[in-house]
Amino acid sequence: MVRLQSGVTAEQDGRIWRPAPAPTLTPSEEKEIAYYSGIRRAHGDTGFFDLLTAKANFIRVFQLLADRLDLQPGQTVLEIGAGQGWASCLAKRRQPACRVVAADIARDALLYAAAYEQLLGVRIDELWECSVRALPFADAQFHRIFAFASLHHFGERHDYSGILAEVLRLLAPGGRAVFLYENWSPGWAIGWTRRRARRQMRDAVDEDVLHLGHLRDACRRPGGRLEVEFWPNPSFRESASAAAYMTLLNRCRFLAPLLPGTVNVTLTPPATP
Ligand SMILES: C[S@@+](CC[C@H](N)C(=O)[O-])C[C@H]1O[C@@H](n2cnc3c(N)ncnc32)[C@H](O)[C@@H]1O
Repeated sequence: MVRLQSGVTAEQDGRIWRPAPAPTLTPSEEKEIAYYSGIRRAHGDTGFFDLLTAKANFIRVFQLLADRLDLQPGQTVLEIGAGQGWASCLAKRRQPACRVVAADIARDALLYAAAYEQLLGVRIDELWECSVRALPFADAQFHRIFAFASLHHFGERHDYSGILAEVLRLLAPGGRAVFLYENWSPGWAIGWTRRRARRQMRDAVDEDVLHLGHLRDACRRPGGRLEVEFWPNPSFRESASAAAYMTLLNRCRFLAPLLPGTVNVTLTPPATP
């Protein structure tokens, strides 16, 4: 089992661990939990195939991006905002000699991990129901921390300093955090892109869009280093218009850092003296 922060105790419910007592939830976390409870009520275990097909484009995108994680044998890997755990399963499949831990606030999402495990013939080493705002794990033990299309759910009123500090606390020296497939927007368009993102999700959960300047500031304060890869890949987008827009950004690469789009973000901890 991963090491826990001193003073933290954990309990297991089925395969899923959680800190005990559970910390108080924020309204945004309550929304995420309610969202996945609704999915579970609607689909149950037998609806797994529908959920899998709904995720198919994301799964293909992850396969295109997974090299960014640079998983090596013997590493301990944490996925945050793992949802149904499919990306952790794929990480385990790519590098079976890694120890993979998947964490999410929504137990009803994590419960689908078993179906992905069965499909892919792997087993996630640990499943954790916990908040990214207070991860129960001890410092400096993860060689890789990653999230797929999840970082933008972790801000507090668009402020990511709390989560980035928490990730830096957990990274082993020489480790790296990789946040894949995130929507970003320059300042002049951010109000509109945020409103649009929320509308698309019908406000079911608190969608956000990253502001790279704010993210860089939040990372610089605790001494971390942030690298941004603009990634306007048109494949597997949700609509023909999104694919056409990304094709434009992809062909005219100078536009990618100027207009709203998709980024992959890597965070590395300060060098140890
Ligand atoms: C957009 S979903 C992405 C899930 C998964 N990565 C995928 O692509 O299918 C964002 C995930 O972040 C989780 N999440 C949101 N806020 C969280 C928090 N404060 N702590 C832990 N997980 C959180 C949600 O429950 C959800 O599973």
